[in-house]
Amino acid sequence: MKKVIFDDFANIYDEDMAKQKHLDGDINLYLQYAKHIKSPILDIGCGTGRVAVPLIRAGYQVDGIDISKKMILKFKNKLTKNELSKNFIYIDNALNWKNVKKYNMIIMPDDVLLHFLSPEQQLKILERCYLFLKEKGILIIDVFRQHYENLFRYESTTFTNSSGRIRKIYSDYETQINKIEYTYLDGKVRNNFVRWISESELRLMIKISGLKIIDIFGNYDKSEMKYSSPKMIFICQRD
Ligand SMILES: C[S@@+](CC[C@H](N)C(=O)[O-])C[C@H]1O[C@@H](n2cnc3c(N)ncnc32)[C@H](O)[C@@H]1O
Repeated sequence: MKKVIFDDFANIYDEDMAKQKHLDGDINLYLQYAKHIKSPILDIGCGTGRVAVPLIRAGYQVDGIDISKKMILKFKNKLTKNELSKNFIYIDNALNWKNVKKYNMIIMPDDVLLHFLSPEQQLKILERCYLFLKEKGILIIDVFRQHYENLFRYESTTFTNSSGRIRKIYSDYETQINKIEYTYLDGKVRNNFVRWISESELRLMIKISGLKIIDIFGNYDKSEMKYSSPKMIFICQRD
């Protein structure tokens, strides 16, 4: 498989994430839903297993798929032989992945939906989630909420945060694709891309995919979603 964006991040990903605050509480939210919905669970864009590993250790059966071989290697290295024999980790593009297994719960933690860089691809992955779910199964979508005033404030602005990284965001207003340029302490520049999505666009895509929205939150503490909320967390169900 050819080199992909997150191959460049694999070596620094876990250390960097441990210093970030914006995901505080997400694992707890997935554990709460797993308790009710149960296994099997599919983690799309599972990366290094940041969320999948705690779910596996809590006793759930979790399969993971990610397009980055290097992220997946980090994930696999965390699992015991016994865990690897029960939880299946795939390296593939989730848009084309040939899969027949059906899941009770699908998760796409930390903006994974936004890594599909066109509305067509974002809709396609939601339609695939519908196919991969069992009846009454749920999909948890977690994406950041775009605050439109930031589009202008962010462009070419440099942020330095306590984790010792510099982040520059370049917004393309037409495609809604943000190029995010990270410079870490190792001095290497790594580029990432996300296509942000508006609330109305996401609601429409979910509807077209055949899924039903059963809950919406503005953050991992299940607070009500408002314009000012940092997140859009949609809990969707297949009828
Ligand atoms: C921001 S990371 C999130 C990783 C993990 N979900 C977490 O919360 O720590 C996005 C992940 O999505 C994966 N990804 C991007 N496009 C993908 C695709 N088409 N198919 C499968 N995985 C993809 C990337 O390789 C990366 O590991």
